[in-house]
Amino acid sequence: PSDVDFDGKELFKYQGCWYENKILLGILNFQRGFEPQDTDIVIASFPKSGTTWLKALTVALLERSKHSSDDHPLLLDNPHGLVPYLELIFKTSKPDLTNISSSPRLFSTHVAFQTLREALKNSPCKIVYVWRNVKDVLVSFWHFQCAIRKIEEEGSMLESIFESFCRGVISHGPFWEHVLSYWKGSLEDPKNVLFLKYEELKTDPNVQLKKLAEFLGCPFTVEEEESGSVEEILDLCSLRNLKNLEINKTGKMPGGASHKIFFRKGEVGDSKNYLTPQMEERIDMIIQEKFRGSDIKF
Ligand code: A3P
Repeated sequence: PSDVDFDGKELFKYQGCWYENKILLGILNFQRGFEPQDTDIVIASFPKSGTTWLKALTVALLERSKHSSDDHPLLLDNPHGLVPYLELIFKTSKPDLTNISSSPRLFSTHVAFQTLREALKNSPCKIVYVWRNVKDVLVSFWHFQCAIRKIEEEGSMLESIFESFCRGVISHGPFWEHVLSYWKGSLEDPKNVLFLKYEELKTDPNVQLKKLAEFLGCPFTVEEEESGSVEEILDLCSLRNLKNLEINKTGKMPGGASHKIFFRKGEVGDSKNYLTPQMEERIDMIIQEKFRGSDIKF
């Protein structure tokens, strides 16, 4: 089936979620043509849930102690260049993956779990999913949409985006189907699917980073912890630092968007500043219904 989003853009439903035509083609190509390696790592998320941050953290984790301060990959390319989206790589049906320089290979995706799983063909790749409070995702998404259209009068788009979001007819949506797909995946296969919460990364970054390191099979040693390696990575990947890195100001970001919108505020609860009480109430009701029976709490 097809439907249109807040912008009149046609979206197609595939395996439970909505995608733009060009993304869908990439998905079909990568489901058909991707040859996973057992050590591959895939960073997955619903857009605007902290993907860029998780990419940076994962690169920094895997690359720790391999580099001097000026040849660190995060100083040479932005997190999206370092961890490309599978559905974009596969815009062409037979992309050349030999130039992926990271070892293990790092990929990312915004597709739902069932769609990714099919492409991974039951390989033991590690999947890390980051999810975030629905209201902050919505507000971040709205700012992003205004930014890529260079709309200054942002208020004008909030209502239509809100409607689209609530109907679930939004690129990669419905949000709840997306989050639930990975939640279930992580319950069924906890060794290979890690379900991380943006808000916990914010409030408890040390614990969460160590959890990520364990999951990826590269836990911090006692010596590393004592020498401040955890804090070093968190500092390197802080929003303030990433935003100010020259490479992130000048490099190419997805969708041709300015780096400023990928490193905006990064706050928990920013949505309070924009959503009306009626909007909050409506989304609370939807979320309550959709997440009933799961242990997901917003
Ligand atoms: P806000 O728009 O609420 O500020 P994504 O990377 O999935 O596109 O998500 C973008 C959101 O993550 C933005 O949220 C952005 O500011 C936030 N973000 C980016 N880098 C971050 C970091 N290092 N720490 C915390 N949040 C970050």
